[in-house]
Amino acid sequence: MKTVKRWGFAAVFLGLAACARPVVDTQGRPAAPGMIADPDMSVLRPQYERDPASWPKPTLDAGIGHRELGLVVAPPRDTGAQAQARVDLGQMLFFDGRLSGTGQMACASCHDAELGFGDGRATSFGHGALPLARNAPTLWNVGQRKAWFWDGRADSLEAQADMVLANAREMGNEPEVIVATVKSSKGYRERFAAAFGTDEVSLERILQAIAAFERTLVSDGSSDFDHFLSGDRAALSDSAVRGLHLFRTKARCINCHNGPLLTDEQFHNLGLTYYGRELEDLGRYNVTKEPADVGRFRTPSLRNLGRTGPYMHNGLFELKGVINMYSAGMPRVEPTEEQKADPLFPVKSPILQRLDLTQEEKSDLEAFLLSLTERKRRIRAPELPPIGDA
Ligand code: HEC
Ligand code: HEC
Repeated sequence: MKTVKRWGFAAVFLGLAACARPVVDTQGRPAAPGMIADPDMSVLRPQYERDPASWPKPTLDAGIGHRELGLVVAPPRDTGAQAQARVDLGQMLFFDGRLSGTGQMACASCHDAELGFGDGRATSFGHGALPLARNAPTLWNVGQRKAWFWDGRADSLEAQADMVLANAREMGNEPEVIVATVKSSKGYRERFAAAFGTDEVSLERILQAIAAFERTLVSDGSSDFDHFLSGDRAALSDSAVRGLHLFRTKARCINCHNGPLLTDEQFHNLGLTYYGRELEDLGRYNVTKEPADVGRFRTPSLRNLGRTGPYMHNGLFELKGVINMYSAGMPRVEPTEEQKADPLFPVKSPILQRLDLTQEEKSDLEAFLLSLTERKRRIRAPELPPIGDA
């Protein structure tokens, strides 16, 4: 009699505990009986304290290969004197506003190391009276990307810099004028000689030097997430560890944000095309002219996320807003009657699904995302040589 009573009491207690939270498994499906809703940290933490190769299985859609998150490995670099001189020269050119049409806009004006190598604005403040339509991306790890710009229209860092120098909204200058300006400087010519063997100044060499500098901008393993991966288990809070697990499972982020840079280097449509509206941006379609590419943008790296806001190609969102939108499965834009027959009407990626994250799951995800922020590294503007002295 006594035992029965006690069991009855326990059953009521367990019942109440189960009602407090919807019981779902890591994929968001109702959990099998007996499974607890909140991940038990005494189970989850040891699983993530192992080598990433033996972390819990990620939730991946069919056809998506598994690339685990991890430390960024700096690509091998030529450390010879000439290679170093090329990097130093590239850094000068990067900070030199005299390369621009007005003589005042440098690469560093919109890519500031202290602002995560972006400019902290929604969209960049352009050259002269022309605003830019997109958010300035970070340059951390930019040498390891596969295509450059939000729509991937440049296929090398050199090609990217070439486009920027001539772009009326960015540097806005003629290649011949840039070359003549740099050539007119004794100091620059000496540096070209150290960097390339002869003091010839050409557009090609200018682009090579800028790209050489950009390739040195590599993650330094200083984020909390990196410390955790390197064995400092206290570097991630319980909330961030739960967020990491959500990122890889129920929240499905790892389908697109994977590998050490947390990007698959592919183009996806998140429903942010603003099709037929003022802020319309057709993204990848502008490059390929493939209807399927309307509204697709390159998956950004999430490293240094704490500094690279505001977010998305249009810079319209803060981090909490981004998480809320993913939780809701991203905006679903219904075509109007006339848009129904439009072959260019943008189609949102089928990978995106409603996640219905709880408030706690959203803050766990945010804690993990912010753990990807590295220490602040200041990159000093170098002293620039005089121009027109020879
Ligand atoms: C007026 C602001 C501005 C200036 C000046 C500027 N950029 Fe940018 N940069 C941007 C914006 C905005 C984008 C994204 C444009 C897009 O995707 O269409 C961008 C994109 C890039 C990218 C691509 C990054 C990636 O992940 O794909 C690189 C690299 C880059 N800029 C380097 C440079 C260099 C080098 C210079 C100087 C020669 C420079 N930028 C000057 C605003 C600027
Ligand atoms: C279908 C692929 C896909 C999935 C799944 C996905 N993302 Fe993204 N993510 C992208 C693309 C593409 C962009 C850029 C879209 C744009 O600007 O239009 C992006 C942008 C972002 C940004 C803005 C970064 C910046 O620098 O502007 C954040 C933050 C982000 N994603 C986090 C997440 C999180 C968290 C999840 C899981 C809840 C997730 N993503 C799931 C593809 C994806």
